[in-house]
Amino acid sequence: MNWRKLRTFLLTLLVLSLIPATRYYQIDVPLVGFLRGSQIDPLTLHLAGEFVESNLGTEQDADGSVTVRMIAEQYLFIPHCVLVPAGVPVHLRITSADAVHSLAINETNYKVEVLPGSIAEAQLEFPQPGEYAMPCREFCGAGHYAMRSRLQVVARDQFPALRAGERGNCEVQ
Ligand code: CUA
Repeated sequence: MNWRKLRTFLLTLLVLSLIPATRYYQIDVPLVGFLRGSQIDPLTLHLAGEFVESNLGTEQDADGSVTVRMIAEQYLFIPHCVLVPAGVPVHLRITSADAVHSLAINETNYKVEVLPGSIAEAQLEFPQPGEYAMPCREFCGAGHYAMRSRLQVVARDQFPALRAGERGNCEVQ
């Protein structure tokens, strides 16, 4: 009798412990303790703070450079098209809402690892106008191969003059 109960208990325990084990690679494990730099809660990105939707895209800085803010999530990048001027420093700030992703800019050496829980930063610059595909280069699940954004680099004088609080994107043009 007692053996039976014990066996049932142990089996239940085993099954329950297997569930988090299978989820391990789909993230959820906060890596925060190991990471340096800015930290951010991936679960509340859309609600408040730097990565709310209205703050994503390209922002003009006072010194003529621009800051681009993006979110990576299964299975897309937001915004899906980014507009920047040529020949000025581009400060990229990107974070993930779920798994580990990697934002690559084709035809360049730029590739940014994007982890949930931290803000990845990169300094970019594009001397000439052009268009680049920005695919995800870290396997992140079933939709990985379709996960991509686009980068549109326009001549400096074609980039819209943005007012404070305004964000440039490909549709503005
Ligand atoms: Cu995101 Cu692969």
